[in-house]
Amino acid sequence: MKQFYDFFKYHQETKHSYHSVRVFPNRLDWNNQPSTLKNYPQNYKRIDLNTNLDNHNFLYLIAGVNAKKVYPTVEYYLRVNPSAGALYPNEIYFQVRNEDGFEDGIYHFEISSSNATLLYKLKEDEGIEGNLELEGSYDGFIFFISSVYYRSSWKYKNRAFRYCLLDAGHILGSIEASSYLFDKEFSIIYDFNREKLNKLFAFDEKEFFNSLVLCAKKTNASKNPILLDLPTVDGLKVEQNSKEEIFEKNELIENAYLLSSKINNKIVQLHKANFVYNKELFKETIFKRRSIRGFSNKSISKVEYESILNVLNQAITSDCDEQIDIYYVVNRVENMPIGLYKNGKLIKEGDFKSKAGYLCLEQDLGSSSAVTFYLTSKDKNYQALYQKAGIIGHRLYLASNYMQIGCSGIGAYYDDEVCEFIDEYCMVLYSLAIGN
Ligand SMILES: Cc1cc2nc3c(=O)[nH]c(=O)nc-3n(C[C@H](O)[C@H](O)[C@H](O)COP(=O)(O)O)c2cc1C
Repeated sequence: MKQFYDFFKYHQETKHSYHSVRVFPNRLDWNNQPSTLKNYPQNYKRIDLNTNLDNHNFLYLIAGVNAKKVYPTVEYYLRVNPSAGALYPNEIYFQVRNEDGFEDGIYHFEISSSNATLLYKLKEDEGIEGNLELEGSYDGFIFFISSVYYRSSWKYKNRAFRYCLLDAGHILGSIEASSYLFDKEFSIIYDFNREKLNKLFAFDEKEFFNSLVLCAKKTNASKNPILLDLPTVDGLKVEQNSKEEIFEKNELIENAYLLSSKINNKIVQLHKANFVYNKELFKETIFKRRSIRGFSNKSISKVEYESILNVLNQAITSDCDEQIDIYYVVNRVENMPIGLYKNGKLIKEGDFKSKAGYLCLEQDLGSSSAVTFYLTSKDKNYQALYQKAGIIGHRLYLASNYMQIGCSGIGAYYDDEVCEFIDEYCMVLYSLAIGN
């Protein structure tokens, strides 16, 4: 296959192959798993989220806990948003101004207690807009999504930066869904000064910001920058006072972050998505979303298939809209020719069920599905394009679950073999499967 493109080096270096997963298998020390929760010290004021209040529910439906699993020795919590390996590497911060249920300030969403921790109370003339050099002032919510990467690299090693970005994309997709539900604005910013924002929040090298979201209305007022005097909280330690260091530095990931932090040649997407869900049903779908663990080889209908595809293709409003191609193998859709499709067009007819499963590291999900997806790109702004793949993945989960169709993200696949199969030299970003 011709290899014209010079793709992001980190991506090239973190491909899976039939050989690599057998020569470098992952052995995990489950007794030393990093915490998946970050909590600021108890002296910070907390607002208990009351899901009867719209603005609190808006927040809760982005990343709140929605299920508990109990095993003989451990219990753990699942959330509104999915996450590779349920490792939840991302944290959510937000500024809120002139909204019911919150005093104006900068907050951290504390998942463990379903609280919003008030990190800083805003004065009238202040706002993060000043720090971010945004024009004007925003009434509403501005979200900041970060990654505490070792939560993921503990398990996925070098490939973890991909998962941090996909999971961050799922949170962006969650914010998109909750904004739709509560009639709020939604627009993503990828082009911001990451170094400055990381410093403002007193992050060390363990945590870094990936994206911002404006769920807010612009006004003409201007705001002075804020000064946060925050402690550096280790998002990996269960006990903050523990002397034991859990973190293991990963140079490849830290370099990949730095190298992909500057956005170049961005194309702004001003169009908005136009979803037409029944909102009560959609709210229930968001709250009950789950990853399917296995399909029973049943078909989905063509109408279901078409309405899911329609949701994936809607615009995603952002300041840097990268091109993502959606390839998929149709295995079981009534009245649809089976085969490989690209962006809605059949490009190779045939039965590729077992091939689709093999490519996902032999996971049965890929072959017993109705449709198995591969999201790819040849674009350059790695953080923006990878998070966009996560958003599309999140739309796929919600659109499928809304119709009682199962869905699962699949982060592990044989990168080069997928390229050979689709006959395109590109970066394979994410695979997902839907079905019954
Ligand atoms: C980026 C990403 C990659 C994933 N990869 C796989 C996978 O390869 N195989 C799998 O069975 N599940 C995969 N999952 C599903 C997660 O295991 C699941 O989201 C997590 O266990 C939490 O469960 P929940 O989605 O039901 O809340 C993936 C999820 C995400 C978001």
